[in-house]
Amino acid sequence: MCGIIGYSGPLNARKVMLDGLAQLEYRGYDSAGIAYFGDDSRIHQIKTTGKVSRLRELCGSLDDEVSHCGIGHTRWATHGGVTQANAHPHTAGRVTLIHNGIIENYHQLTEQYHLEDRLLSQTDSEVAAWVLDSVYDGDPVGSIRRFLPLLEGSYAFCIMFSDRPGEIYAVRTVSPLVAAYTPSGSIVASDLTALIPYTKSYFVVPEGMILKMTPYQVALYDEEGCRKDPEIMVVNWNIDAAMKNGFPHFMLKEIHEQPEALKNTILPRISKGLPDFGDDGISDEIFLECSQIRIVACGTAMHAGMVAKAIMEPLLRIPVTVTIASEFRYENPLIDSKTLVIIISQSGETIDTLAALRLARSMGSKTLAIVNVKGSTIARESDYVFYTHAGPEIAVASTKAYSVQLAGLYMICCRMGLVRGCITKAEGQAFMAELLEAIPAMEEMIKEKDHIKSVVSHLVDQPDAFFIGRGLDYAFSLEGALKLKEISYIHAEAYAAGELKHGTIALIADRVPVIAIATQSSILSKMLSNVREVKARGAFVVLITKEGTAVPDDIADIQIRIPALNDHFTVFPIAVVLQLIAYYASLLKGLNVDQPRNLAKSVTVE
Ligand code: M6R
Repeated sequence: MCGIIGYSGPLNARKVMLDGLAQLEYRGYDSAGIAYFGDDSRIHQIKTTGKVSRLRELCGSLDDEVSHCGIGHTRWATHGGVTQANAHPHTAGRVTLIHNGIIENYHQLTEQYHLEDRLLSQTDSEVAAWVLDSVYDGDPVGSIRRFLPLLEGSYAFCIMFSDRPGEIYAVRTVSPLVAAYTPSGSIVASDLTALIPYTKSYFVVPEGMILKMTPYQVALYDEEGCRKDPEIMVVNWNIDAAMKNGFPHFMLKEIHEQPEALKNTILPRISKGLPDFGDDGISDEIFLECSQIRIVACGTAMHAGMVAKAIMEPLLRIPVTVTIASEFRYENPLIDSKTLVIIISQSGETIDTLAALRLARSMGSKTLAIVNVKGSTIARESDYVFYTHAGPEIAVASTKAYSVQLAGLYMICCRMGLVRGCITKAEGQAFMAELLEAIPAMEEMIKEKDHIKSVVSHLVDQPDAFFIGRGLDYAFSLEGALKLKEISYIHAEAYAAGELKHGTIALIADRVPVIAIATQSSILSKMLSNVREVKARGAFVVLITKEGTAVPDDIADIQIRIPALNDHFTVFPIAVVLQLIAYYASLLKGLNVDQPRNLAKSVTVE
């Protein structure tokens, strides 16, 4: 969850690191620090609690002290609170390192290496630094090789040894690391956003291999210490995609990018009006041979799965189950070779989702991953990958990734329906045409942002809010509630509207905001009855319906209308509405929209 960067080359390393950390800050932003070789060939260190901007202030003029080799870290606290001592880098004897991940056996290591009196921080990372120092014999690659088996857990390390100026070593297990050799030097980072100003060609550091970086080269060493050639990949977006480009926040920019992201994800995969995964290498056999679908993901990605279940099960007539990845991995799931496990992850690095993928594969199931980040671990380890083309998503609150995950799931549903004979070609073409109609519907809702903003003033002073819906609308509500709570800190719950009377309606009192989604024709009248029930108890009701739906005026305090799409596709404009509600609530409360407290973009620790 932390952001890490290492650089060795002709440029001003302090500037490269600070710029890189600013790009990586969305991965964690409790504290930040850098270490670098100075003119005197010694390692210097600056670290602080708070944001990268604070670190930049502390660094002063970047030209005062020019370094050409250094490592930098932006932290999301796991072991030990947010203090300067716990900020990375950590120095232990000749070793200075930064770490992303968790060393689970740090207690045992502390005892085994008698570190109790030496530790300056409460972190597992400092323990790892001391252990490495104690095995270090002047040969970095050999010493790291002896050090790794001593560790249990996940890690990405960037390491400098005080007697090896100009050199950086990096290694990882589970936690991500990408690297490149460029005309501007060698660079390694936890994700591409830090590399992209310098190069479009990069490689993923393979697990267990040791990366050595000097100003002149990057070299990979395998378990036997032999040099290996990296597998070079090319990124298909540029630095602009990771900038705000005039928007006040990444989240707002990413909300606006959704129509384009959907086009990029859907259009290249349509042939004769039908979904075609030929270029993805996704075989129809996995759709034919399965007797059940398990969808596994976390957070927003899991909510996309909830929508998919509601679409897939009635159409495909096979069981579809959605499970939170952190539960799936420990529940001894009932899966076999006839199970298609669909894994959804924007980052492709979420550790629980990755563990679920590995479990599914070990149990013989076929895995199909819907992933946004090219070359990510989940993408590389899955049997099949459906890449979404949303470009980098920087705001912690996921928006465009959700829409494209949905688009992918809808297309998979359609393809599967065709292959299994559940729908005809003509029905498949109609399905895809309706999916495409969702794109202008999203554009229309983006234009409605001022109206949506005006709704929010009724929410922001309230401690709680409820999102209710039935059927598909309930699945949308889950995402609406998550979005609101994660960036506005308003306690929000999603409820199946028919379930309210079984307890939750006790919480509805005067002015309590209820966002009611009513786009499903088959249960509209039932849903409107539920809305009346909360209104009768004093709720402040924001009702979201389709254009043309007949609704009595007195049923809601505010109404938001979305374009009259087929019921199955209303999630796309609804997503925009719910995202904008959360966005403006956070903005009105004066909060940090893009970097909400306690969160980080990519959850790479359990
Ligand atoms: O990268 P992933 O899609 O695997 O991430 C899953 C969740 O951590 C993520 O969707 C999270 O819930 C978002 N912050 C929600 O906005």
